[in-house]
Amino acid sequence: MSPKFSLDPFEEQYAHRTSSMLSSEIRDLLSVTARPDIISLAGGLPFTQAFDPEIILNTVRSVLEHDHAAALQYGPTDGYAPLKHNLVEIMAAEGTPCFPEDIMITNGAQQGLELIAKIFINPGDSIITEAPSYVGALNSFLSYQPHIHPIAMDEHGMRTDLLEQTLAELVGKDAPAKFIYVVPNFHNPAGITMSRERRFRLLELAHEYDCLVVEDNPYGLLRFDGEPEPSLRSLDEGRVIYLGTLSKIFAAGMRIGWVAAPHPILDKLLLAKQSADLCSSTFTQMVAHRYFGSEDWRGQIEHLKEIYRGRRDAMLEALEEHLGGIARWTRPQGGLFVWVTLPDFIKASEMLAAAISAKVAYVPGTGFFPYAGGECCMRLNFSYADEETIREGIKRLSKVIKHELSLARALGYDIGPLPGECGTGEVTGG
Ligand SMILES: Cc1ncc(COP(=O)(O)O)c(C=O)c1O
Repeated sequence: MSPKFSLDPFEEQYAHRTSSMLSSEIRDLLSVTARPDIISLAGGLPFTQAFDPEIILNTVRSVLEHDHAAALQYGPTDGYAPLKHNLVEIMAAEGTPCFPEDIMITNGAQQGLELIAKIFINPGDSIITEAPSYVGALNSFLSYQPHIHPIAMDEHGMRTDLLEQTLAELVGKDAPAKFIYVVPNFHNPAGITMSRERRFRLLELAHEYDCLVVEDNPYGLLRFDGEPEPSLRSLDEGRVIYLGTLSKIFAAGMRIGWVAAPHPILDKLLLAKQSADLCSSTFTQMVAHRYFGSEDWRGQIEHLKEIYRGRRDAMLEALEEHLGGIARWTRPQGGLFVWVTLPDFIKASEMLAAAISAKVAYVPGTGFFPYAGGECCMRLNFSYADEETIREGIKRLSKVIKHELSLARALGYDIGPLPGECGTGEVTGG
């Protein structure tokens, strides 16, 4: 194992795969952001306060009154069958056809990602992600030791011209990509939605190069503006492994996600889940089934969207007011996140300590790239803090950024107009 100095007395015992698990340095810094005096734009928390506790209480009570013994029991590995019907309905609300038998329920979409990594990735295998990409997916993938090939995004999503180039190169090296992982709607962290043309092109290329597509769609129903795009699964059921979750439309704390996939893949995932946890919580699955069966979940999503839309607008307006002409940012049509690109001499991870002293926090962009990139970028969350807090947070952040700019000026940096792309392949917004 690594000869590097470590305070961990168990260093020699760990499996090699732990060395590719991403550093906790930023997590340590961010752990202070729970302090009430810090405005955290760093998390990715849905606003669960928007739920009426009475509704949740009644739902839980009715589950326990109706069948407490089943709720407290183990359940089938593939999930509580009645809930699958609700999940089919949720997918239909986005125009994605699915049958209950195409679904395996997981412990959040995160478990789906972990199980996909487990059944597909051998050390050294090639896989493709967007750049930036969801950090939880990168972590799951990296622990199985693949070569990740990040493909830059622009405002239309993953650049399929670069994807094509990479797929061809990998075939040339006899290391064809196993799968392409994408978050097509309101991307975490980039806030971007993949255009219809790119969706079609992505699937064409996947077909041409015979690789699978992993479509991770936690945010699709949280659209504030514009028209929905077709899901990749609805365009090519035979090649797409679809991941859904109740975390953003119901309760992240219930830990309910699902995978919809071709049946042979579902069979392998089932074996992998069996050894991971036997089954997901029967209790929370029954609660979710009751909630989606008898409550106005569509109305609740509308309510959430109204709150998030206001918060997104507050963030975009505050960015314009305080950082217009200094930074670029994406303008998400839904979801939870804005991606900000600063001038390339500002390193967002180095600036984080100063931001925390100024009582505001964000996630530096580097965490969303498997190897390098994102140094001058940050992810901002708008779902959790209220509008006034968001405005104040951006104001504090802009002071920190402007201070960095004045330092850079003093050091003789040429401060051009707006930042372009910095590092390797990341998104610049409008
Ligand atoms: C893109 C993406 N995929 C998966 C997840 C995991 O969600 P879950 O709570 O269902 O595990 C998240 C959570 O933020 C996410 O942003």
